[in-house]
Amino acid sequence: MNTLEVPQGQFTLNLYPIRKNEQLRAWDAADEYILQHLHEHSIVSDSTKVIILNDSSGALSIALASCKPCTISDSYISQQAITENLKINNIEPENISLQNIFQPINGIADLVIIKIPKNLALLEDELYRIREHCNEKTVILAAAMIKHIHTSTLKLFERILGPATTSLARKKARLVHCEVNLALVAGESPYPSQYTLDITGDVYSNHANVFSREKLDLGSRFMLEYIPQSASYNHILDLACGNGVLGIAAAQLNPQAKISFADESYMAVESARINTQQLLGNEPRFDFKVTDCLQGIKDNSLDLILNNPPFHQNHVVGDFIAWQMFNEAKQKLKPGGELIIVGNRHLGYHIKLKKLFGRCEMIASNKKFVILKSVNK
Ligand SMILES: C[S@@+](CC[C@H](N)C(=O)[O-])C[C@H]1O[C@@H](n2cnc3c(N)ncnc32)[C@H](O)[C@@H]1O
Repeated sequence: MNTLEVPQGQFTLNLYPIRKNEQLRAWDAADEYILQHLHEHSIVSDSTKVIILNDSSGALSIALASCKPCTISDSYISQQAITENLKINNIEPENISLQNIFQPINGIADLVIIKIPKNLALLEDELYRIREHCNEKTVILAAAMIKHIHTSTLKLFERILGPATTSLARKKARLVHCEVNLALVAGESPYPSQYTLDITGDVYSNHANVFSREKLDLGSRFMLEYIPQSASYNHILDLACGNGVLGIAAAQLNPQAKISFADESYMAVESARINTQQLLGNEPRFDFKVTDCLQGIKDNSLDLILNNPPFHQNHVVGDFIAWQMFNEAKQKLKPGGELIIVGNRHLGYHIKLKKLFGRCEMIASNKKFVILKSVNK
């Protein structure tokens, strides 16, 4: 179940976080297609300078570790998964240069491998970022499951890099080949883009991979009406902060409190940082953390956690991340500390919260959402 067999070798790969009875694999047919194609066409040698984008659990980076690839991701969870999978395959971490999306890329690549993300805005931004690290000899090889490749996907490659074609399908996956045309006038990445929040008139900046990048999410909109205010709050966390909209509202209502913003997406945390700075200034009471759930936050340290939980992580859908967040929230809250969440009514978060905290109060509800509060004993 967790052994990837490709021409480059056999590798053990787990999805992270590890779940009991995991039914999903840590790679897909598009990863296999890329690795087979590279082998069949003898495209890589150990001296090939390789850049890999959006490798979710390390299938590509680990199979190509002998080239010492530079692996770029917006996801802290993916970086953790790749690090753990390197360990179980006894590959030294120095073999892969793991970079977040904002770290500068060195030099010109011979080969750029792109696992095409579902979010086309992210792909667009990434194509602009790598363009400067390509020349006309750079091989661009992208892939995804067929359902994630559309005419608009190819158009992005053609508009930003150069002519693009798709391969025949193998196991419902396709490759995209693209030739770099440096004469192309490609313009600049439109990200971060902005929207104006009608409720306050505030302008929010959003990097390409931020949740609800084009407008405020309906759940967050509802939650904004119920952000609490209390002189007794010393430390508030906007957990899974996205662009920071909930934490910023909490900061405005609670000017004495330290406000932390945390998310697993580098683009989310950077957007929250820009928005906090632009709307509230550069105060020492704000801090920003790229992390998995509440990892790295002190136990018994928080008075209030605000959370609009994710219902998927990378391609894996489910409430397991919300559950992990609630569990960790209990540990990090002071006695008497509050967790306030917003969720779709049908998700049944109140059952989980009641089980964990002993009580769960419904603060508000509308046709679609509920706002729930649990207090740590
Ligand atoms: C529903 S969005 C909420 C965003 C923002 N709070 C809002 O209300 O607009 C959920 C967020 O959870 C983040 N996320 C997903 N998995 C995570 C994890 N393991 N740890 C931290 N954040 C995570 C996503 O990147 C996304 O920004």
